[in-house]
Amino acid sequence: MQRVLSGVQPSGDFHIGNYLGALRSWVQDQDENDAFYCIVDLHALTSSPNPDELRSRTIDAAINLLAVGLDPDRCTIFVQSQVPEHTRLTWLLECVATMGELGRMTQFKDKRDSSKSDRTSVGLFTYPVLQAADILLYNANRVPVGEDQRQHLELARELARRFNTRYSDIFVVPEASIPSRAARVMDLQYPERKMSKSIKSPLGTVAVLDRPSEIERKVKRAVTDSDTEVRYDPESKPGVSNLLELLGAATGATPESIASSYQSYGDLKSAVSEALIEMLRPVQERHDDLSKDIGSVKATLAKGNDAARAVAQRTYERAAQAVGLL
Ligand code: TRP
Repeated sequence: MQRVLSGVQPSGDFHIGNYLGALRSWVQDQDENDAFYCIVDLHALTSSPNPDELRSRTIDAAINLLAVGLDPDRCTIFVQSQVPEHTRLTWLLECVATMGELGRMTQFKDKRDSSKSDRTSVGLFTYPVLQAADILLYNANRVPVGEDQRQHLELARELARRFNTRYSDIFVVPEASIPSRAARVMDLQYPERKMSKSIKSPLGTVAVLDRPSEIERKVKRAVTDSDTEVRYDPESKPGVSNLLELLGAATGATPESIASSYQSYGDLKSAVSEALIEMLRPVQERHDDLSKDIGSVKATLAKGNDAARAVAQRTYERAAQAVGLL
C-alpha cells in the first residue's frame, strides 16, 4: 500500500476550486492508500495571520476536511504544529538545502517584498524546506498537489536524495502526483486567473459553504463574452469554458462533450448552479452538524496528531542519528 501525504493551509474559506482541484481526490485516495493529511498552520504563519483567526481557521479546516468526506477511520488528519518533529527535521534539512536553490523558488520570488527585500521574513524563504520535512517525515511515496507546487516537490525530492547520499538512506524520495486533468477552476469574474483563497474576489469565488441562493447569484453574474455560442475554447472563450469545466467536474463529464447540450449561456448557467448546489449539499449538511460538535472535531484531531507523531518520531530519530546527534 502506498503512503500518500498532502497538506493544506488553514487560510480562509475553502472554495470549489480547492474542492474540485484537490480535496475530492484526497477523499478518493483514502481508500487504496495509507493517507496522511496535514493542516499546515506553521506554513500559514508566513502570511502573519491574526492569532485568533489562525486558531479558528485551523479548526475550521478540520471541519471542512471531514465535511468533504475524509474519514478519520480511513486516513490520518492532523495539525502540523502539534507534531514537533516537523520543525526539528526542518533544521536538519536547512543544513542540507542551499540559499541558491531556495532563492530560485518562484513562489518565494513572487511573494517576497520586492521593494524592501530585507523585510521579507526568513519563514517565507525557508517555507519549502518545512514542506519537505512534512513529506519526508512520513516516508510518503506520493504527494498529490496542484501544478503550482511542482517546484516545491522537486526540491523535497532533491533534499531527500542529497541527505541520503551525504549520510545514509533514510528518506523515501517522494513522487509528485499532479492531476493532468484536474478541474482548473478559474475565477468567475476574472476567468483568466485561478480561483484563489488569497485574492479577494467575492463574486468570482464560490465557497464550499455558499448557500444555493448565493451560488445562483454568482453563477448568474459570471463573466462570459459577447458571442452566443456555447463552445469549449479556453483561449478565446475563457468564461464560458470555465463554466463548462465546472459543470463537467461536478457531473463527471468532459467540458467538450457537454457543450453542445446547451443552447444559450442562460441555460448553461442554470445547469452549472444546479450541479454545484447538488454537489455541495451533502458537504454543507455535514459541515453544519460538525460545527455543532467542535469537541468531537478536536478529539479527532488529537487522535490524528498522535498517530502522525508516532510515524514522524521514528523517521526523525533515524535522521538525527544519521547526522550525528546524540
Ligand atoms: N505549500 C502547499 C500549498 O500551498 C501546502 C503544503 C504544505 C503541502 N506542506 C505540504 C502540500 C506537504 C503537500 C505536502 O498548497
